[in-house]
Amino acid sequence: MNLKKRAGYEAAKKVKDGDVVGLGTGSTTHYFINQLGERIINEEIEILGIPTSYQSFFIARDSGINLTTLEEHDIDIAVDGADEVDPDLNLIKGGGAAHTLEKVVDNAARKFIVIVDESKMVKELGNFPVPVEVIPQALKAVEKSLIELDGIPSLRMAKNKDGPVITDNGNFVIDTKFEKINNPLQLEKDLNNIPGVLENGIFSNMVDEVIIGTSQGIRCLKSD
Ligand code: 5RP
Repeated sequence: MNLKKRAGYEAAKKVKDGDVVGLGTGSTTHYFINQLGERIINEEIEILGIPTSYQSFFIARDSGINLTTLEEHDIDIAVDGADEVDPDLNLIKGGGAAHTLEKVVDNAARKFIVIVDESKMVKELGNFPVPVEVIPQALKAVEKSLIELDGIPSLRMAKNKDGPVITDNGNFVIDTKFEKINNPLQLEKDLNNIPGVLENGIFSNMVDEVIIGTSQGIRCLKSD
């Protein structure tokens, strides 16, 4: 079985009847959301989903998952993908440019589970550039500040549209490469301290459990 699917299907087993579920974004969570939809049909369980992007909104709708908002419900469990996971379970996210709402939803959940294939497990964060969502008017000023933090900024360009990626919130994403990320928590704070930055893709000290799809099966890591 595809390793992302393996992790997504395992996470779908963790959801209980009556849960309000944060629905992450990306190809791994696509499998999770589809499988949750299957459980709703087959087991007649009642679930409410809170999407983290237009993508997860559409997949949830097509999978028959009833939706709600953070205004109306607290979240029991959130399940989301990641681009990198370090041994302390810090993450880089935002490969799909959805990290701002993902962080809000994942952080609000009583339990936050990350689902990845084994290629996402790293010794140290930083091979993947850190996505930084910025308001368009602040682009130049933020790029300057990122260079001052020893980052190499690169405005993310769209694939099927001319010009930059525009996030679900109407902003730009600056992918920022750091030679080394020694202290993810500090860098997360420093990036969010730059005026014009909405949110960055470092998620430190947030994860409760990581479900890893490996060629040998499922491996789980839990935070201390
Ligand atoms: C989107 C994300 C995704 O969860 C992350 O990019 C992983 O994606 P995939 O499951 O497709 O590998 O953070 O903003």
